Amino acid sequence: MALFLLLRRTPVSTMAMLLPFLSPSLSCRRFRCCYSQQSVRTGERDHGPGRWKLLLDREWLLPNPATKLKEVYLEEEPKAGKRSGTLSFHVIRDDLLHPIMGGNKLRKLDAIIPFFQGHGITDVVTCGGCQSAHTAAVAVACAEHGMRAHLLLRGERPVIPTGYNLVAGMYGQVTYIPRSEYSERKSMLQKHAVRISDANSASVAWLHSPELCAELPIPDSQPIVPDMRVASGDLYKSSGPRKIAILNEGAGESFALLGLIRLVDYLSQPSCFGTEGILRIVVDCGTGTTAVGLALGIVLFGLHWQVVGVMLADNCEGYKRHAESLLSEFRQQSVPKKLYCDFPCQGDNLPIIWRERCRPRKFGKIYAGEIGACQHIAQSNGILLDPIYTLAGWEVAQELCCEEESKDGAKVALLHTGGTLGLFGLAQRFPHHFE
Ligand SMILES: Cc1ncc(COP(=O)(O)O)c(C=O)c1O
Repeated sequence: MALFLLLRRTPVSTMAMLLPFLSPSLSCRRFRCCYSQQSVRTGERDHGPGRWKLLLDREWLLPNPATKLKEVYLEEEPKAGKRSGTLSFHVIRDDLLHPIMGGNKLRKLDAIIPFFQGHGITDVVTCGGCQSAHTAAVAVACAEHGMRAHLLLRGERPVIPTGYNLVAGMYGQVTYIPRSEYSERKSMLQKHAVRISDANSASVAWLHSPELCAELPIPDSQPIVPDMRVASGDLYKSSGPRKIAILNEGAGESFALLGLIRLVDYLSQPSCFGTEGILRIVVDCGTGTTAVGLALGIVLFGLHWQVVGVMLADNCEGYKRHAESLLSEFRQQSVPKKLYCDFPCQGDNLPIIWRERCRPRKFGKIYAGEIGACQHIAQSNGILLDPIYTLAGWEVAQELCCEEESKDGAKVALLHTGGTLGLFGLAQRFPHHFE
């Protein structure tokens, strides 16, 4: 009641400032991030790393890029006399950004969702495994922002829905796809998008690849070419025909890199890691898109940082190929022509060390004792991990701390990519690991 009275008396301008704090969800507003005119006046924006801030001058899903940092010590207490930071690492708590979408899913959608809204997209089609955190995040983000999510999940409906599968079903329209059909992802996504369109009145577009539409000659298929400065709703009217966008599995899209570049910009503030020191950011990799986005931000802002990408679903060559294609797509879609020549096109120019997880294995496999390790970390640090993704990053961060101890004084940070609802699906599939 008191809150109601306060809101009634609050001027509209103040209300606008309060809204992000009052709303438990991300609300239907989008947020524009503008950079200071001072950097424009000084010319920093045109010549130094500051010129890349232009990329961040757009609508975002997150009201601001802030995230919590927590320092974790490998020993009970940091020993007196030791250089600080040598036996500790920082956890970038992106898992806390949202109750369901937390972690890298939200960063990848940070620029994509407002972009869809700006183009009047009404329906989004994407795909993933039965317990895919990505499909659940897309479903939640779409529902929160007035779009419908159509989720193609690999395999069969589980007997009891739980974890991300449950969330996907609550927020989105789920269709289960036989594994044989799922293996042809591009044609599966395109076919489904055309199926849900109302014959002649709807259009279907891929977010990422104009060429792909030419490859698959479906009527009404047209590329969306991301515009640096699309104003909300001014291209298409929301009351018009349905507009269907197709989003790659895992949001493995060049457009997803923008949210990670924004995160690097935030982390380089003096109140976080600053711009001077050496930092190694560890990130567990599925498609590798998150790692590439972080590394691209590091290059563009001229930082002495590195990304350590823990390879979970592919080998080094596969990740490098993906990095290469993301960069060339990104340059084509998001880099202003005047900055083309300065943009790093070669995947090899990115500061990424691709590294095996401590105990390499086939993606998705869990070893005995790993649920216990997650339990121990949760109980001693208050940080929940899952054995498929984030435990792999945690173990590598620990290893790096020990390796770096006597070296260049680099700090180590682990990006918590979220994914903890995945534990529910694992508990259902492998109950013996949780006994
Ligand atoms: C918890 C978690 N970590 C990491 C990843 C992999 O991210 P990327 O595909 O960007 O490498 C995923 C995939 O969605 C994930 O759910």
